Order: sequence, then C-alpha cells, then structure tokens
Amino acid sequence: MLPVTLDRTTTEPLPAQLAAQVRSLVLSGTLTAGDRLPSSRALAADLGVSRAVTEQAYDQLTAEGWTEARPGSGTYVTMTRTTTAVAPRVTTRPTGVAPARSARSLPRSASPRSSRLDTGTPFFDPRLEPGWRRAWREVSATAPPRGYDDPRGLPELREALAARLGRTRGLELHPDEIVVTAGTTDGLRALLPELRPGPVAVEDPGYRAAAETVLTYGREVVDLPAVETVRDLGDAVAAYVTPAHQHPLGRVMPAADRLALLEAARRADAVVIEDDYDSEFRYDVAPVPAMATLDRERVVYLGTAAKSVVPTLRLGWLVAPAELHELILRRRTITHAGAAWPSQRALLTLLRDGWLDKAVRSARRVYAERAPRVAEAMSPYATLAGPLAGMYSTWLLPETDAVRARDAAAAAGFEINLLSTYARSSGLTGLVIGFGGVSDVELDQALTAVTGALVERVV
Ligand SMILES: Cc1ncc(COP(=O)(O)O)c(C=O)c1O
Repeated sequence: MLPVTLDRTTTEPLPAQLAAQVRSLVLSGTLTAGDRLPSSRALAADLGVSRAVTEQAYDQLTAEGWTEARPGSGTYVTMTRTTTAVAPRVTTRPTGVAPARSARSLPRSASPRSSRLDTGTPFFDPRLEPGWRRAWREVSATAPPRGYDDPRGLPELREALAARLGRTRGLELHPDEIVVTAGTTDGLRALLPELRPGPVAVEDPGYRAAAETVLTYGREVVDLPAVETVRDLGDAVAAYVTPAHQHPLGRVMPAADRLALLEAARRADAVVIEDDYDSEFRYDVAPVPAMATLDRERVVYLGTAAKSVVPTLRLGWLVAPAELHELILRRRTITHAGAAWPSQRALLTLLRDGWLDKAVRSARRVYAERAPRVAEAMSPYATLAGPLAGMYSTWLLPETDAVRARDAAAAAGFEINLLSTYARSSGLTGLVIGFGGVSDVELDQALTAVTGALVERVV
C-alpha cells in the first residue's frame, strides 16, 4: 500500500493529487529506483477510487519519467533521489471543447504565413475573435500609465500570470517575482548580461533564436546533447533547455535527467534556463510540471504568449533566482526596457475573461486531431523523433530525402523546415512539420506533396 491520501474536498483532480504524492515519495527517497508500484487495480481498490484515476496518474508519472511501465510486469520507479528538492505540483489536465466551426473571421494581414508549416504559427480559433476584439476595445478605453511604469510589468497582469502559472505549471509565485518581457528571446536578452563571463550551453538540435541571441551577446555557444543525460556542463555558465517538449525533437526530459542537469548546474555554479514555450499542448497526459519547481535557486524560467495567444503580441514572462532578478530589474529600470503597455493590458483582459484558457483548450483539441494525421501520413517513410505533442512533429530522414520533400512542399506552396537547420554538431536530418498555422485542407495538401516525394524512397 502506498502512503498516499486523496482529498475529495478540493478542486484538484484525483489523478493529479495521486501523481503529486508519488513524485513527493520519490523526491523524499521513500520510493527508490526499482520499486514496484502497486497495480493500478489494487491501488484503486485501496484508495476507493476508480481504476481510471490510478491509471491516469501512472500514465502521467511514466510520461514524466518518474516511473516506467514494464509490459506484463507492472509500473516501476526509475530513479533514486540523491539531493533535496521540492515536489512539483500541477493541477491541470487536458480538457477539450467542441471542434472549431467556421465563423466570420478577422481579415488576415497579407502575409505568406498562411502556408507555413512551421513551429511558430499557432492555431487561432475564429470563435474567439469577439473576445480578442473586446480586449483591444478595453485597451483603447483605458488611460495608459503616465511616465515609465513598473519595470516588472503591469502589476495586475503579474498577479493574473502568477495565478495561472501556479495552476498550470505548478509554480507557486508571488507576482513580484515575475518580470513581464517581450517574449522568450527578450527574457534571454535580459538575462545574458547578468551572467558571469563564459559560454552558454544550448541544446543541439535546439531553438535557433536562443543560440543566435547568445552569440549576439558575444558569448560562445556550447552544444548540449538534446536527448542525453547531461552530467557535466564544463565551463558553461548556463544551460538553455526545453524540458517540457524538446525543441525540435519533441522529447519530454525525464525526471532523472532533470535532476542530473540540476546537479551538473550546481557543480558548475551555472543556471538552467528553462524555455517553457508550449508545455500546455499535451494531449495524452497533463502538462509536465515546470523544471523550475524542482529548484527555484538554480532555474531561470522563461514563458511566452507566442504559442498560447500569437507570437506577434510579443509578450512573455521571466522568473529568475532572487539575485539575478534584482540585477535584471536594475538594468531594465535604467534602460527603460519593458513590454509595451497596450499588449500587457490586452493580455490582462484575455486572462481575466478566461479567453486564454479557452484558446489553449481549442488549440489543444485541434492539435490532438492533426498530430495523428501527420503521423499516419509520415510514418511509412520516416521515424518520429519524439512523442506526439504540441503544434509540430519532427521526422528523421536522410538529408537528401528531406530536401526533396521540402522542395516538393515548396512547389505546392508550403514552407516546411529542415531539421538540419536546427542542428549544429549533432548532424541530425529530417523534417520539422508544423500543423498549427494552416487549415485542415492545406495540411492534407502539404502532406500529399511531402509523401509524394518520399514514396520514391520505399519503392
Ligand atoms: C523553442 C521556442 N521557444 C520560444 C519560442 C517563443 O519565442 P518568443 O516568445 O520570443 O516569440 C518559440 C517560438 O517559436 C520556440 O520555438
């Protein structure tokens, strides 16, 4: 029998409570590598809950790497905790709304983006356009602050963000710990000048904008293997990672690897920069808790509205350990750096109205339908690099095939990125196929073009 107690009086779903308590048991050393958890049936009977509750909790823990399911044998703990950390707590679970139906749409600005199957164009539900307009009407009816405002950003927005990060990412924050930024890369730009001299390790393959920003700030980029356990950071002063959904390979960083990376960062006296760009778009299990929940003194957390709202809003948020937070604020005050007030004000309304939650739910629903369609089309020809999640999937292929498929898509009017453009020393090749920014019909047309070019490969 596991020493867990479920509380039926709170709004926190039972599977989330159970998963959180098992994580705590691992982190406290009560459960260690190789321990077998009770069967989901036995545990459900012990706790007086339905088997769906225990199964959902086990699926979540396995997706996060705390446990592994051995077919025909059971569910086993994968690791032993060696240093202290706080157990992450997350209370959301994937929920769905009715699929998008067409409505009167906002006129789109003339832009070639509509045919981009990239990783940066999210789905925008036309049913949410009235709420979007309402937010901007409210901005126009509100007087802006006189003079330069709080360098941390709009206080009411930080309050709303703190509540949301607690609820969706397990991050318990005071609003004053949040700095509103103009997006992930702006957060990185705010951080880099405050780190001691030295190189920054960036995942390879990894987020191109992060590597480029590090170079722009005159620092060397060290290649961090994207899907291996990192135990040594050498002389790097920071490690830039995407633990919830490795960009672009898709892997969820397993719990043991998170702890190993934190340990390596402690030894190197480096910080871990957690780019949490699209963690809400899991459709199999609840979002994996933020890595920052494991060590707030070591992790700089970067969030963005680019995926959940639109990239052109240019808004994000940064949570840094206390000393770095102070340094960042000092410089932002002197340099008048900060996110534009109208955007912050609009995001506040979108959060308060529940618009953002609806937008995430409907986009998640669309991605959950499209990801398997892409997988069905691509899997005869290429190997999926990670689990299906988010608004893109990455397919491993020899470069010549990937280029041929990319060119065929381009000839049909669709832009698809080569995996090799995200890779530095790793040399990985293939295609990164985004499915957020196109219609269902366009997606099918693009996939037909791609697979048409790949058919030659198997015959
Ligand atoms: C890995 C990753 N991080 C962050 C972002 C968002 O960056 P920003 O908030 O600067 O638009 C993206 C957007 O495509 C991304 O792919």
